[in-house]
Amino acid sequence: MLFDTHAHLNDERFDHIRNELISELSQNGVGAYCEIGYDIKSSEAALSLAEKYDFVYAAVGVHPHDTDDLCESDMDLLKKMCAHPKAVALGEIGLDYYYDNSLRENQRLWFDRQLSVATELNIPVTIHTRDAMADTIDILKVHKDATGIIHCYSGSVESAKILLNMGFYISFAGPLTFKNASTALEVAKYVPEDRMLIETDSPYLAPVPYRGKTNTPVYVAEVAKRLAELRGKTFEEIACITFENAKKAYRIK
Ligand code: NI
Repeated sequence: MLFDTHAHLNDERFDHIRNELISELSQNGVGAYCEIGYDIKSSEAALSLAEKYDFVYAAVGVHPHDTDDLCESDMDLLKKMCAHPKAVALGEIGLDYYYDNSLRENQRLWFDRQLSVATELNIPVTIHTRDAMADTIDILKVHKDATGIIHCYSGSVESAKILLNMGFYISFAGPLTFKNASTALEVAKYVPEDRMLIETDSPYLAPVPYRGKTNTPVYVAEVAKRLAELRGKTFEEIACITFENAKKAYRIK
């Protein structure tokens, strides 16, 4: 059984197939997944979905894309959501200097603020960082008690070392299967066995051979297969290791 640590099945692309897709996940080898919120509304929706299914967990938080209109009252809403028994992380939060959909100063402000909320509540975080590794690491250094996951890791081995030393888990997604994945391959070989996770980031980033299609948690098997090849392990070993790691990262009993 596989644990997809990061997916957005509340995306409208799944409106007509969502219940069927989730109900059939275990038949397709996916034993659990985490539905990730990216703003207040999608975080509430993630919790509703997690209430419906035992094996669905939720992360609640505001993505860097959506930080321009945030205000302090939203932090109160987030805190309430974090108290939900199926809320296993605060996220996804972080910095995205590739799209720059929100002002960088707002991204940094609310990444920092949400990290404070997470450490105050002692809940793990799940972090999105794109073209912003130096600032991500600088802000994390201020929050020494923050722990959690760097989702869809796209940085260097050097940055991975720093983040691993801070206690973070590194999560691999579809790009690991892409032909041009040279840095990702090095990182996938480097990360210690007890710190690696797998995810899909559905509906985005479908792995080879589904690249370009709508991604679903079922395809997390392709990420596991690639990781198994790179690490000289069997698929079953990688499934087992990453499932246990996901439970630890999200503190699931
Ligand atoms: Ni995501």
